[in-house]
Amino acid sequence: MSGKSYTPVRITTIKAERTVPFSVYIHFKEQYLEYVKPGMSIEKDKYKKLRRQKITKFYILDEHEGSYQQFLDSFLEQTLNSETASVEEKAEAVTGQSETALDRMGDDPGNETNFDMTRKAAKNLQKLIFENPEALSRVFGQDSDASPIIQHSINVAVLAIKFAQRKKISEEDIDWLSTAALMHDIGVMQFEKDDQQLFNKPKAELTPADKIKYYEHCKGVVQLLAERPYINAQVIELIESHEENLQGSGPLKKAKLTPAQEILSLVNAYDKKILTKEITPAAAIKELMIDELGNYNLELLNDFKAFLKEQKVI
Ligand SMILES: [Fe+2]
Ligand SMILES: [Fe+2]
Repeated sequence: MSGKSYTPVRITTIKAERTVPFSVYIHFKEQYLEYVKPGMSIEKDKYKKLRRQKITKFYILDEHEGSYQQFLDSFLEQTLNSETASVEEKAEAVTGQSETALDRMGDDPGNETNFDMTRKAAKNLQKLIFENPEALSRVFGQDSDASPIIQHSINVAVLAIKFAQRKKISEEDIDWLSTAALMHDIGVMQFEKDDQQLFNKPKAELTPADKIKYYEHCKGVVQLLAERPYINAQVIELIESHEENLQGSGPLKKAKLTPAQEILSLVNAYDKKILTKEITPAAAIKELMIDELGNYNLELLNDFKAFLKEQKVI
């Protein structure tokens, strides 16, 4: 056994035919095998084969984290600014970064590097969504190999970013909202496996005991994050209040929400409906308009429905 430690990275963040300045490993039969040597790149065919084999993660050495982040920053900058890259390629690069950041946040939510990566992912999601009108429908509801919590977090982020812009939320508030949206359920990732099942249960089926347990995800980890000086208070408050509603029946019984908080809560409730009840986006908005009446401003609910139509989500 060597004393080396490895960090997972989504394979979509290491493209084919791109020189990597560090070693890239695959995890196979309890071993880390060097798959790409520094200064080399992955051939296109090999890369496609890995994807067909449903290999989703590579590993890098912890000590190469800085080099990986630099590599990823320039890959994303080039891809997002490229005139030849398709919207799919742009979306894949950005979601790969978001998924990697959230994987890590799940493992170590109090780590500053993981937070920095999440901030960057949130900024790139905004750039993707604002500069490419078709990107939202490409990313939202996309079936990826990430866990349901991570897919949900990305869905909530892209809907919240675009809907907040339509609702004339300031650029700065959208920026914090995008970060909070990505991070909002990292508390669930801290649960034991059994308790994580609560995430898949429709809200109406949660027993009082289930609710007590489940709503802990808006408390424990939030306190840990709040102690971190590098995390803005707005982000903390957004995460903390994402299960609240205007009737005060959320875990913290808050009945007053800022416009950005109300948007995050609404978008979260909407995507959770699709996920937990396994219904279509169109069926989910119908149910939401009935079940959540009074929990959000009626005007906001109506605008959200109109927005989903404009974006061709329903
Ligand atoms: Fe939640
Ligand atoms: Fe959520």
